[in-house]
Amino acid sequence: MKCSPILHNVKARTSIVFTAALLLFSLLKITPASAQEGKDLYAVCAACHTIGGGKLIGPDLKGVNERHEEAWLIKFIQNSQEMIEAGDEKSVALFEAYNKIPMPPNDLSDDQVRVLLKYIEDYQQTDLADETTATHIASNVQAEDSHAIKKSARSEKDRTRNYLSLVLIAIAIIVMVVLDIFFTHMIKWRVLQIGIILLCVFFIGGIVVMEAQGLGRSQFYSPDQPIAFSHKVHAGQNKIDCRYCHTSVEQSKHAGIPSVQLCMNCHNVVKKGTITGTKEIEKIYEAYNKGKAIEWIKVHNVPDHVYFNHAQHVNVGKLDCNECHGPVETMDRIVQVEDLSMGWCIECHRTKEVPFTSNKFYESYKELHEEINAGKRSKVTVSDIGGNDCQKCHY
Ligand code: HEC
Ligand code: HEC
Ligand code: HEC
Ligand code: HEC
Ligand code: HEC
Ligand code: HEC
Repeated sequence: MKCSPILHNVKARTSIVFTAALLLFSLLKITPASAQEGKDLYAVCAACHTIGGGKLIGPDLKGVNERHEEAWLIKFIQNSQEMIEAGDEKSVALFEAYNKIPMPPNDLSDDQVRVLLKYIEDYQQTDLADETTATHIASNVQAEDSHAIKKSARSEKDRTRNYLSLVLIAIAIIVMVVLDIFFTHMIKWRVLQIGIILLCVFFIGGIVVMEAQGLGRSQFYSPDQPIAFSHKVHAGQNKIDCRYCHTSVEQSKHAGIPSVQLCMNCHNVVKKGTITGTKEIEKIYEAYNKGKAIEWIKVHNVPDHVYFNHAQHVNVGKLDCNECHGPVETMDRIVQVEDLSMGWCIECHRTKEVPFTSNKFYESYKELHEEINAGKRSKVTVSDIGGNDCQKCHY
């Protein structure tokens, strides 16, 4: 069957208009999104590279797009070791120049690498200035924060000490009243004597119950680790992104603890620390050479009957690690700053807004969307989407 020319024309015209609109639309949408994507992708690279800030573990990436062809860069960034093994001259020369530190392979598509390269090309020195002032401010805030932690850790100790002395005073009062009943007879009324004793017993009972509930939780827990690993040195001073080491935090229930191999990405060259010299770093080599895992002691723990998922909070909920773990980048030793109690989870779910209108994830909550559109509701908290239903957190 043949189409009439008019119909054909109309069809062609609509399809041209349609494609143009689509193109325009996607351009409008993609430009800002890809800048953000580039920034996100670059976070991993920032562990070893700067853009215009000088050599770190790898070369300064400023002007890298002029130094190499795009095709070469894509292959190199995806898997530099493969190219070195294949004997690519440029790659081997770079590898030699950087003391044979292998750059870890990156599981990125060609397009993702292009987004990254564009981000590096467009990166402005002013961004850098902004960032340094931002980090400067951040580090001031962190200094205050770590102060707050020390303080709250201390007040926690003070609190238990206060409770202990209150219990001791209550016991002393009971002893005195009992002595009075049998020997001194200073208080004439039996009712008053028994009343005082009962009051003290209730008081002690109350404190014991309160403390017992807190038992098994371990706020301010900070065990000795097999290697004195410092988050302050790595995440703070050297600005290594959390996700570089805790690789599964965006996709899975567990954040994951890095393997010895990952430490070796850098420590086959960084052989000495400012604080501990070679003593602690030696232990990495020992484990690596023996092919043994480092036996880190787990700090944060929720009981087995509780379901907690990192991806849900970090990826979907867009929470910062700090909201639950405190200012980790200022800690030489990891401290559990929250009590991880049920009350803590529930309280945040009750008050925390979810990125409801901007995230497609929430499309299925039609009623809530209608309420927002009708102006009946201005925000949606986690508990509004069912985050405080018992079965969401309990198996
Ligand atoms: C563990 C450290 C490390 C990480 C992480 C890392 N690199 Fe590298 N990179 C290096 C080293 C070291 C070299 C030098 C070549 C070599 O030794 O293989 C290098 C070289 C390069 C080069 C060649 C630079 C030039 O001047 O010729 C590019 C481009 C590059 N890296 C991009 C990236 C990108 C993009 C990322 C993030 C996706 C990244 N790197 C992550 C360590 C790293
Ligand atoms: C992306 C690079 C990188 C990775 C990965 C890395 N480190 Fe480091 N590490 C460094 C740098 C840089 C220093 C600072 C050296 C200095 O003090 O100048 C350092 C220092 C140290 C120190 C000594 C601290 C001091 O100042 O005394 C220890 C211990 C250490 N790292 C352990 C580890 C362990 C364990 C891992 C793996 C879980 C690891 N590192 C992974 C880059 C890295
Ligand atoms: C260079 C690798 C590295 C980087 C970067 C890093 N961590 Fe860690 N992290 C570790 C290692 C190794 C451990 C286990 C040893 C310990 O507890 O100190 C750990 C432990 C933790 C723990 C405690 C885990 C437990 O047992 O409960 C938390 C929480 C944590 N990291 C959060 C962060 C946050 C937040 C950041 C970013 C600000 C970050 N980490 C950056 C390597 C790293
Ligand atoms: C909503 C609160 C919350 C946020 C946000 C959060 N965590 Fe956690 N994290 C926890 C809890 C609760 C545990 C204990 C989980 C368990 O016992 O299963 C934990 C455990 C960990 C552990 C120990 C290993 C594991 O997976 O159990 C690491 C490492 C860790 N978190 C790192 C991070 C990093 C890095 C970020 C940011 C990218 C982050 N966390 C964001 C609450 C949070
Ligand atoms: C600092 C705030 C905060 C804390 C603390 C917190 N959460 Fe959440 N939680 C969120 C946010 C935000 C979401 C929404 C993510 C989403 O939209 O699915 C969420 C979602 C959830 C969900 C999924 C709910 C659903 O509707 O599917 C579960 C399950 C959950 N959290 C468990 C926990 C547990 C268990 C704890 C305590 C150990 C906890 N959360 C502590 C902020 C928090
Ligand atoms: C947002 C997550 C969350 C929700 C929703 C939740 N719980 Fe919990 N629940 C927890 C956590 C975390 C613990 C572990 C507390 C601890 O270790 O002290 C816990 C512990 C418990 C315990 C053990 C007693 C205790 O204090 O350790 C019981 C019983 C319990 N929950 C019942 C419920 C019931 C019933 C509901 C529904 C009304 C509910 N939970 C909803 C997170 C949640």
